[in-house]
Amino acid sequence: MLRVGFLQFRPIFGRVDYNLARVVNTLKSVSVDIMVLPELPFSGYYFKDRQEVIALAEEVDKSNTIETLINLCRQADFYLVTGFAEKSRDKYFNSAVILGPEGVKHVYRKLQLFDQEKFWFDAGDIPLQVNTVRGAKIGVMVCFDWIFPEIFRSLSLMDADIICHPSNLVLSYCQQTMITRCLENAVFAITANRFGADRRPHGELIFTGKSQIVAPKGELLFRAPSKREILYITEIDLNLTKDKQLTAHNHLFEDRRPDFYKLICR
Ligand code: ACM
Repeated sequence: MLRVGFLQFRPIFGRVDYNLARVVNTLKSVSVDIMVLPELPFSGYYFKDRQEVIALAEEVDKSNTIETLINLCRQADFYLVTGFAEKSRDKYFNSAVILGPEGVKHVYRKLQLFDQEKFWFDAGDIPLQVNTVRGAKIGVMVCFDWIFPEIFRSLSLMDADIICHPSNLVLSYCQQTMITRCLENAVFAITANRFGADRRPHGELIFTGKSQIVAPKGELLFRAPSKREILYITEIDLNLTKDKQLTAHNHLFEDRRPDFYKLICR
């Protein structure tokens, strides 16, 4: 059995050190194998423009935030999947990283940018990858990626056991949709969402909470409330992702007929 969980909390926009200290304090003595945090949990989400991203983004290998989180992983002996405002040369990505006691294991850059994110960030440019952590194959996607079934399917076809999904959800459809995504691919999904609002001079965005963990048969193992901080940890059985047989005569992957849906790959 593998111990997995999420932290749903309310970051304060622009207060990177404060948000980081809160995460470290909350997680410093948890007993868990893989912990998932929301999207952009240190910078906050509702940027005014790209200049604000430039002011808050960090390079992964020169980041005080990442270094602190790696030390946390060492101290508490777990792996962390977290959103991160990433600078890379002259580009800025809405990224998620897998961190562990050994350092940075993977960087994922959000492929499908949501709404005004297109003004703030560059679209992801790193091919999808699945990484093994404590015996589990982990795929990562960020928030709005959920509305594109192709990414969840691709990670599942790469043998992912768990899709880790740092989020700052503002629409109300994702949580229900993830139940179907898990069922149609027989994988676990951990959606770590934030709650509360980013109240900025240019407007306000309200995030929906309801972080959740879904099992391969589409079973909702736990869903958090919409307006409360919560640290949730549970045990999951990875064997449940190995069986892609839905009925005696239906295999979720082998029954696909890609010749008839080539358009999807164009
Ligand atoms: C989102 O992708 N943060 C809605």
